[in-house]
Amino acid sequence: MDHQAGTIPSGTAVARTDTLHPDGQYNAVAKTFHWVTVVLMATALTIGFLIKFMKDDSKMVFYAIHETAGLTILFVSIARLVWRRLSPPPALPDHVPANMRMAAAAVHHGLYALLILQPIIGFLATNAWGFPMQGATAYFGLIDIPAVIGEMPALAKVLSLIHTVFGYTLVVLLAAHIGGAVFHHAIRRDGTLLRML
Ligand code: HEM
Repeated sequence: MDHQAGTIPSGTAVARTDTLHPDGQYNAVAKTFHWVTVVLMATALTIGFLIKFMKDDSKMVFYAIHETAGLTILFVSIARLVWRRLSPPPALPDHVPANMRMAAAAVHHGLYALLILQPIIGFLATNAWGFPMQGATAYFGLIDIPAVIGEMPALAKVLSLIHTVFGYTLVVLLAAHIGGAVFHHAIRRDGTLLRML
């Protein structure tokens, strides 16, 4: 799509060079991965931060939901990265400046890294505390996941600390990600958000 310098096209914007995505849109598979991740992350983060305030008798089911959502995020993120390799996303529209491209890429890399690392650290922490995903905290309440490391309280403390730091880091990255989407949509009005809807 051609445009004059200084003007921004409305609607879904397209990069001139992107012949694979003539409509500028992410494909249906990429959109599904994205919105499934949003639901799972909202679940894992909300329960993760609230669980320490819950009473012991109701806690178990929330551990199970948190851990099941978290582990599913790992599987979905791996599948999503494989899909991204097979079917690259649409290029950003031509009018998006270099500094915004770099900021978006940095946030996306950080998010992908933590979508993979956070569940792995959480899973290892449960093993090290001696509470693997079995019985009351089995995957989806049904599938016992074998422990890959034994009970090691000293290691469990370190892993839990990393899990907490990554949890807050994810909140910061998500705020930047959502803030960027709102900025593009409401202030620049450049159609960037519409590519994922
Ligand atoms: C992307 C996925 C995940 C996210 C975003 C996430 C996020 C969080 C957050 C924010 C906390 C609260 C930390 C704190 O306030 O100290 C937490 C706690 C916890 N998470 Fe995760 N988590 C994920 C995956 C997992 C997985 C896969 C497991 C285990 C299989 C797990 C097990 C735990 C446990 C045991 C706690 C401690 C809860 C407590 O305070 O007793 N998490 N998580």
